[in-house]
Order: sequence, then structure tokens, then C-alpha cells
Amino acid sequence: ARKIILDCDPGHDDAIALLLAHGHPDIELLAVTTVAGNQTLEKVTRNALAVAEVAGITGVRFAAGSPRPLVRELEIADVLHGDTGMDGPTLPDPTMRVEDQHAVNLIIELVMSHPADTITLVPTGALTNIALAARLEPRIVDRVHEVVLMGGGHSEGNWGPKSEFNIVVDPEAAHIVFDAPWQVTMCGLDVTHQALATDDVIDRIAAVGTRPAAFVTELLHFFTTTYAHTQGFAAPPVHDPVAVARVIDPSVVQTVPVPIEVELTGTLTRGMTVADFRHPRDPESHTHAAMELDHAKFWDLVVTALELIGDP
Ligand code: BDR
Ligand code: CA
Repeated sequence: ARKIILDCDPGHDDAIALLLAHGHPDIELLAVTTVAGNQTLEKVTRNALAVAEVAGITGVRFAAGSPRPLVRELEIADVLHGDTGMDGPTLPDPTMRVEDQHAVNLIIELVMSHPADTITLVPTGALTNIALAARLEPRIVDRVHEVVLMGGGHSEGNWGPKSEFNIVVDPEAAHIVFDAPWQVTMCGLDVTHQALATDDVIDRIAAVGTRPAAFVTELLHFFTTTYAHTQGFAAPPVHDPVAVARVIDPSVVQTVPVPIEVELTGTLTRGMTVADFRHPRDPESHTHAAMELDHAKFWDLVVTALELIGDP
């Protein structure tokens, strides 16, 4: 099983990413770290612990990270995720607590104490924690197996004409992460806009019949409404578990090596992940863009994980 650290801002789709990582046997979830984004750090951290409560997650380390982006003011996505950051289901009061140490220190501790090339970082929020970790302990860049993130995209935007939320919330952090010479796989909107929770998908999840599955069903119903109202989707795109799915089974997300840089100064395009598809292509590029999603395989992984979690 692949060892991962999930760095997230739950967030409806982050919650599903967390459940996929916890439930699927091909992932060993070492830690969950939180970052401000969809909602304030306090709220997304509470939500991560609430998901742990619902799924009976134990033995996973939790730590809270950055309360704001490196340079810019925090911009939240309450229009999509509501006032709690995870509106829809009733959120249980968590019994588990986060560690005293900052998420950035936990990421560094884990990467430095495990053998090199064994830990995959899976960021599904703003890249603030990951950027700070790379700056505070640059040796992690060599030691991490790869970074498989949800963010960006090479053709479309959702928070600007060409900018995706996770990147544009903290573009300077994203710049640091894409620029560092580790393997970075960008699971962007090009593929996550294919990860639609259609009615038949929601029915399949509901049919699992457990409390965690009911929780996910309620998250998806809320997500259906906000994505319809704000972005005109008939079925909501469930972005974040795509990155986890890519780690579980690379064939679910087809990628190409291509140079990708984050635009920091464009007035229309700040936060755009600019992929350079011109030929000749460098097959050794350390950045990779996701191009195509296997929709059926993707939802099979999510349903399998929920079945395996069962009723804790
Ligand atoms: C990303 O933004 C957040 O609202 C979601 O959780 C996802 O990580 C999609 O643009
Ligand atoms: Ca997210």
C-alpha cells in the first residue's frame, strides 16, 4: 500500500477523498493535515475530525496547519461548501484531537523519518502547508515519492476565467510547489470536471447502506445544489478524491509529462497553471498534467472504499 499524507480543507470533496484514502486497502493513510481554504482553518480542521468520527478512523495523525495563504488574504468558498465548510449532514462532535505541532512540522517529521521515496503527498486544498514544508526542510523535496495534487488545470478555470480555486487562493505557494524538482502530478479541472456525481452514482453510494455512506450521500446532495446554482452543473464535480484515486490506480487518471508554471502576475490569469504543450516535449518533465478520467473505475474505487469501511 502507498503511504500518503492528505493535506486538505474539508470541504465536501475533501471529506470523500479522506474516506477513499482511509477505506481503500492500497493506501496507508499516515496523516491528515489541514489548511485554510474552503473555510477557515478552525472549521476545516473540525470537519476533518468529524469525518474521522463518522468513519471510526483511529491510528491516523491529525494536525492543523496554515490559517491563511502566504501573501494574499484568505478567500473562502462558502458559496459551495456552506457556513460550516461541510454543510448538509449533521456533523458529529469529534472526540479525536489534533496534535499540538503545526501540520508543516508533522509533514517534515514523517517524510524525514520514513525511508526516502516512500511517502506521497496528496494536497487537495491550497498549497500553503506544502510550500512552507519545502522551504523549512528542503530535503523533503528529494525524499517524497511524488506529489499528486488536486488543483489547476490546463484549459479551464472555476474561480477565474483560467484559474482554479486551490491554486488561486495561494498562488505563491503553488508556484513553490510546481517549481520544486519533485514529481508533481496535477489532477486539475480537466479531469475533475469529469468526476461527476450523477444520480446513479449517488444511488449506488446510498445503497451501501452504512452511516459513512449516508454521510457521503448527504454531502453530495448539498454539493449538487450549490454546484447547480453557482456553476451550472447538472451533477457536481467531486474533485479531490480524483487525486487519491490516481495514487491507488494510476490507470484511472491518464497523464502526460509537460512543463507547468503558475502565473503570479497576470491581471486576468493570476493563479493559472500554464502548461506548455509545444513540441518538442520533454519526456523527463517533473510536472505532469492529468488529461482523462476513467469515470466508471473512479466511482468503483469510492464505492469499494465505503463498502470496506462498513459501519464502524
Ligand atoms: C477545489 O476547490 C475546493 O472548493 C474543492 O474542495 C476542491 O479542492 C476545486 O476547485
Ligand atoms: Ca479541497
